[in-house]
Amino acid sequence: MKLNRREFLGRTSVTGVALACGGSKLATALAAQTPPNLAARSLGRPALLGGQPVRTRPFPGWPVFDATEERALLEVLRTGKWFRGYGEMVDRFERAYAELTGAKYCVATASGTAALTTSLGALDIGPGDEVILPPFTFIATYNVVVLNYALPVFVDMDVKTFQLDANKLDAAITPRTRAILPVHLGGAPADMDKIMEIANRHKVPVIEDACQSHLAEWRGKKVGTLGLAGCFSFQASKNLNSGEGGAILTNDEAFAEQCYSFHNQGRIRKPGAWKPEYSASRGSNLRLTEFQAGLLMAQMTRLEAQARTRADNGRYLTRALRAAVPGVVPAEEHEGCTFNAYHLYMARYLKEHFAGMDKAKFLKAIDAEGIPFRSGYSPMNRDAHVRALLKNRHYRRIYPPEVLDTWEERNQCPQNDLLCSQAIWFSQNILLGTHEDMDQIVEALVKIQKHAAELAKA
Ligand SMILES: Cc1ncc(COP(=O)(O)O)c(C=O)c1O
Repeated sequence: MKLNRREFLGRTSVTGVALACGGSKLATALAAQTPPNLAARSLGRPALLGGQPVRTRPFPGWPVFDATEERALLEVLRTGKWFRGYGEMVDRFERAYAELTGAKYCVATASGTAALTTSLGALDIGPGDEVILPPFTFIATYNVVVLNYALPVFVDMDVKTFQLDANKLDAAITPRTRAILPVHLGGAPADMDKIMEIANRHKVPVIEDACQSHLAEWRGKKVGTLGLAGCFSFQASKNLNSGEGGAILTNDEAFAEQCYSFHNQGRIRKPGAWKPEYSASRGSNLRLTEFQAGLLMAQMTRLEAQARTRADNGRYLTRALRAAVPGVVPAEEHEGCTFNAYHLYMARYLKEHFAGMDKAKFLKAIDAEGIPFRSGYSPMNRDAHVRALLKNRHYRRIYPPEVLDTWEERNQCPQNDLLCSQAIWFSQNILLGTHEDMDQIVEALVKIQKHAAELAKA
């Protein structure tokens, strides 16, 4: 007897145990351990082996926009004031983003990288200084450190949460440590209780890399407002998007003004600031444009609703995966996480639950089913270009041999190596769909798991 998906759901749900989330019929059915023969017939053969893909329709696209964005861009266009020194839109955005996040101050920047560069510039990080960061992050977190000829020091990851392991932070701090850059990876907060306790004890400032975590919360407070400052990216893939763009949040007025000055060629915030007597510090041009601020104001009208949808689908999918797919293990949240912004849906692929099929083959198989899981980051501390730092002529001049000779050893991150070998994820737009979309993700994974031995050999 061949059942279509609707019939399959109808039958299996009769005996199903409802999931805590009031789960869909499929999740319910899978939680009740659908008899293998029934599931096998209804799920069919893997697409990679010639079967029908589970999904052929696209997932929700990104960016989302309508006449709101058109109006915002036209408004800026028609003012003829396209630079923050002439217009008002960047100021408006800074006030709105600070208000939304509960921060006292916001300085908008040209990108997330520019936000981090500005923060490190305001702290006067330079040659001889050490900056702590996790290795499981986008390369920008590392680049902003080495651009200042400071020494990056990696602290290993916690594989369960995909966040920096704060238990290893204390041991990485030296008298030369000038900043800690924890990353809130994928939209979920790093362990900010432990990080802040250690940082405060050593009197080292924390600059949160919140580039992937707009609206995420730690114990009811928005990330980016917990350390000295938080840096955000509005690059095209991000949950808040103006193509490129960034912002710094802080509650420290003096630091906000230092950031403002650094991002504005070292000039202080004053009318007539082009006059040389208003130069206050080192600096650069890292300003956001009025057009980008207009786009951000428009995108912000949807930000909270989209965040709620992602969180709802993310939680729903996690419950379904835990019930139905051993071997695809969703990233856990720290106990202090009160809101996960889900820039990425992150999980670990454990091949021992898939007949030893390697991750590359698994990703090929799931992609063929129409589900775009991708591999996570590769081990940054092992990158040829990162290791080349030891041969860089400036680093050789700045750092004594004993510092460079022990650098690679200090930067060993075995848990990160493991995490990189297992990490898979998909991007936030997929979580803007429905529970049925999530069901199809689970369905495709169950199908691949069922045929894993055959796929592994193919
Ligand atoms: C963790 C992290 N830090 C920094 C950045 C840099 O942001 P941007 O691309 O806006 O410069 C990104 C962007 O992808 C990021 O994911």
